[in-house]
Amino acid sequence: MKEYHFDRISVICREPASGTDLSAYTVKKAGEPLRFHRSLPCYSETPLHSMKSLAEETGVGTVLVKDESPRFGLKAFKGLGGSYCMFRILCERFGLDYAAADYSDFLREDIRKACGGITFVTATDGNHGKGVSWAAKMFGCKARVFMPKGTVEARRRAIEEAGSATAEITEWNYDRTVRYAASLAEKNGWILIQDTAWDGYEQVPAWIIEGYLTLAEEIAGQMNGMFPTHIFLQAGVGSMAGGIEGYFINRCGDRPPLVTVVEPEAAACIYRSALAGDGRAHSVTGDPVTIMAGLNCGTPCSTVWPVLRDCSAYFCACRDDVTETGMRAYANPAGTDPAVVSGESGAVTYGLVQVILRSEELRKLFRIGRDSVILVISTEGDTDPEGYKRITGKK
Ligand SMILES: Cc1ncc(COP(=O)(O)O)c(C=O)c1O
Repeated sequence: MKEYHFDRISVICREPASGTDLSAYTVKKAGEPLRFHRSLPCYSETPLHSMKSLAEETGVGTVLVKDESPRFGLKAFKGLGGSYCMFRILCERFGLDYAAADYSDFLREDIRKACGGITFVTATDGNHGKGVSWAAKMFGCKARVFMPKGTVEARRRAIEEAGSATAEITEWNYDRTVRYAASLAEKNGWILIQDTAWDGYEQVPAWIIEGYLTLAEEIAGQMNGMFPTHIFLQAGVGSMAGGIEGYFINRCGDRPPLVTVVEPEAAACIYRSALAGDGRAHSVTGDPVTIMAGLNCGTPCSTVWPVLRDCSAYFCACRDDVTETGMRAYANPAGTDPAVVSGESGAVTYGLVQVILRSEELRKLFRIGRDSVILVISTEGDTDPEGYKRITGKK
């Protein structure tokens, strides 16, 4: 393992290990959430853009961008996890076989009535809570959502507007807010639907991560037999990154992609854990400040930590201006490339790719060349419209 420091980024470079259990992220597994999501009236596949002009200009094979801004009208991918997890919890509660059931079963009058008595609770930086609020409304349930201090009011309001939740901003950081939501679930008999795992709380986050696999299945279908050589995945707790990484390592077989886990410098808990090199996940404590609100998490998700630790080739901690670069590059694309509306937590991987492609030294370090097939996910749209306008100059 080697660590490098550059102007705007720090990079850990290592040889991925083999032998990690990836059975939770197979192509077969990914078919289950996709089948459920397809049964939702508002489902449609999000676009996978090929940035041909950027690839041509920078001399690489292909740059692909999965654009999650239109997902379910929520401006972020997160609703995939919350909705699938809620489906699995409710199937269990009502004795439905999840492998045969779909959303239409929840339109039955008796089930709908019983759903009205169920309350879900969660902590969120924004997008997960919005997904939970939306999914709760869809299933006819209630939801309570708690957010860390410093959350912008627009994100809180967006959660309430998205569905049936009431949302509150607490006085604490993200990790402490998660503990608060867990304590309320225990006290009130509510169901905790949290998108990160810890010892003793594994099933719910596992279903949320499974829900994210719809995203991976869609990408694989849209790539039409092509395999990515490089995947850049942004991480908060790492649930999304770990799930998608596990899926593509499985899917690509003996041609595994080089995966980079990308975090904000201030809250780089996965980077710090990799650097510690003792195999364990470590937390970033205190009150980290970053404009990448969705990535501002202090503790890696225990379920996916082994995947991130063993399968990733690079870990990258980025200054906030890297995501600003990404947001502007998406908003002002090269040549005939499509414009993508991408928020602070959505654009950091594209910003990093821009930084890498324009430096010979970094291209070499990341082993990027003429045949590289680079995949990034723009995980959110302008979830903070004011911030988006300030950074890109666009509405
Ligand atoms: C837009 C966006 N991208 C990425 C992430 C990271 O997901 P995870 O916390 O699973 O690492 C989040 C998390 O909230 C997010 O909101």
